[in-house]
Amino acid sequence: MKIFLDTANADDIRTADGWGILDGITTNPTLAGREKRPFREIVEEICDIMGDRPVSAEVVATDAEEMLTEAREVSSWASNVVVKIPLIPEGIRAITVLCQEGIRVNCTLCFSPAQAVLAAKAGATYISPFVGRLDDIGHDGMELVAQIRQILDNYDYLHSQIIASSLRHTQHFVQAALIGADVATIPFQALEQCFHHVLTDVGLARFLDDWDKAGLSIF
Ligand code: E4P
Repeated sequence: MKIFLDTANADDIRTADGWGILDGITTNPTLAGREKRPFREIVEEICDIMGDRPVSAEVVATDAEEMLTEAREVSSWASNVVVKIPLIPEGIRAITVLCQEGIRVNCTLCFSPAQAVLAAKAGATYISPFVGRLDDIGHDGMELVAQIRQILDNYDYLHSQIIASSLRHTQHFVQAALIGADVATIPFQALEQCFHHVLTDVGLARFLDDWDKAGLSIF
């Protein structure tokens, strides 16, 4: 499973990238808004950090023609930009055209398997089911990821990858991997949580203590 960081914060991206486990970035208008600086500047800096790894940047138009104009603009900022388009009828129209133009698309705000089929048919490179937001309204968000996995596998929609999105904690991350999501996009704090286990901390302290008591050294 690829790991994307769900953030527009360059410092968090640099920290996570230092761990050597980052495959891409997803941003959205809310995350970009938190950074309090021009959108283009944010996207260009993140794309620069990530090199050739994909960085999703979202359009804000809701009309297909305007989405296309915004998408072409945003994708011209760096070769690793993936344009994020919402899963609405105008969005699907735009995705069809963008795919014909060779512009990679992350189809976002997917909340049902039927929507995912439409996104795959339109040629989206990535489809982003929002797990946490479904959980928030009493649904089983991860079940949606499992259903989309089955549908894509049934029909060999090999061009579309599932990004398990709106992940909130370690269990979401693990479940996404068990189901076979192609990608998990996860906020920085939730990724940090994945490192930790109380027995790791206790075990390390005990090893170091025993080593000191024995008076051993490596060099
Ligand atoms: C995905 O691409 C979205 O940016 C993100 O996962 C949304 O998550 P949220 O529900 O925590 O805002």
